[in-house]
Amino acid sequence: MLNMIRGSRRQIYLLLTVLLVTLLSACSKESPQSTFDALGPVSQSQLTILWVILGAGAFVFVLVFALLIFATIRYRRKSDDEADPPQIHGNNKLEIAWTIAPAIILIIVAVPTVRGIFFDANPPDDAAFTVEATGHQWWFEFEYPEQGIVTANELHIPVNQAVAVNLYSVDVIHSFWVPKLAGKLDMVPGNENHMWLEADEPGVYFGQCAEFCGESHAKMRFRVVVHTQADFDAWVIAQKQLAAIPTDPLAKEGYDLFIGQAQCWACHTIDGFQRARGSVGPNLSHVASRMQLGAGIMDNTQENLRAWLEDPNSFKPGNVMSRDAVVYADPSKGLSEPQISALVAFLRSLD
Ligand code: CUA
Repeated sequence: MLNMIRGSRRQIYLLLTVLLVTLLSACSKESPQSTFDALGPVSQSQLTILWVILGAGAFVFVLVFALLIFATIRYRRKSDDEADPPQIHGNNKLEIAWTIAPAIILIIVAVPTVRGIFFDANPPDDAAFTVEATGHQWWFEFEYPEQGIVTANELHIPVNQAVAVNLYSVDVIHSFWVPKLAGKLDMVPGNENHMWLEADEPGVYFGQCAEFCGESHAKMRFRVVVHTQADFDAWVIAQKQLAAIPTDPLAKEGYDLFIGQAQCWACHTIDGFQRARGSVGPNLSHVASRMQLGAGIMDNTQENLRAWLEDPNSFKPGNVMSRDAVVYADPSKGLSEPQISALVAFLRSLD
């Protein structure tokens, strides 16, 4: 019996160790969405506030438990006939002390917090430009009014430059979150929210919708691509190029399908084609230049694009394309394999 208890106790310790290691590994800076690896002034200010609050909380925790343990041991009843200790109800000095002490701790927490709230909410005056970010079920639209660019699921910004971001939603509440650059802020239908971003280093940063927004919420991701200024300028020039009717015969066939029978144009815009001006789905101008497909859920490869066109619902359950697009909603109008090949060739020509 004793051995059994010892054995199960060992198992519990083992389980607790595994749980603790798993929990702590979430704090690793190496993780692509770790908030402990703050790489911009906004996330840095938020991380500082976290440490201040954590420090104040730890101080209170240690103090209270030390006093509790001390009092429990020092003042425990030592014999049955020991008298009740003196009662201290109404001790003015103590009342004042434990009112003032928490007030001081709250002030220590409140000052950096309030300063941080104003710092994070107001883009600096020298912000490089503004991006309009809109949440859709389940993808992100990024519009650059000053540059005349609309893209999806990839936010490109120059390094060491503040960029103002206005947040919107067309359907339900989403939340815009790039853990290494800035804390989450909701995208609310009928309401405009404001934040800003700045990155200290070029690179690719992971972003994610952080508000439950329907069945494919977990598949609503994006990337922030931080360029050197020269690379960013080159990206802007490339994105402003208008698409032309492809010369490759298969891609041309795909173009004809896109603006014709397959009716992709009704939901998607491709700058350069008069007919393709839809705004329900992601803007597909230069879709071939993007790193990911389906809002950050898979690499942008020929195989993945084909698989997506064959059955978008299997990648992103409930998405509008599977639900409403005529070729998916009505199987009798579905795309044939040769038609999908043509569409893939066309979309991959949009670089
Ligand atoms: Cu959008 Cu969750």
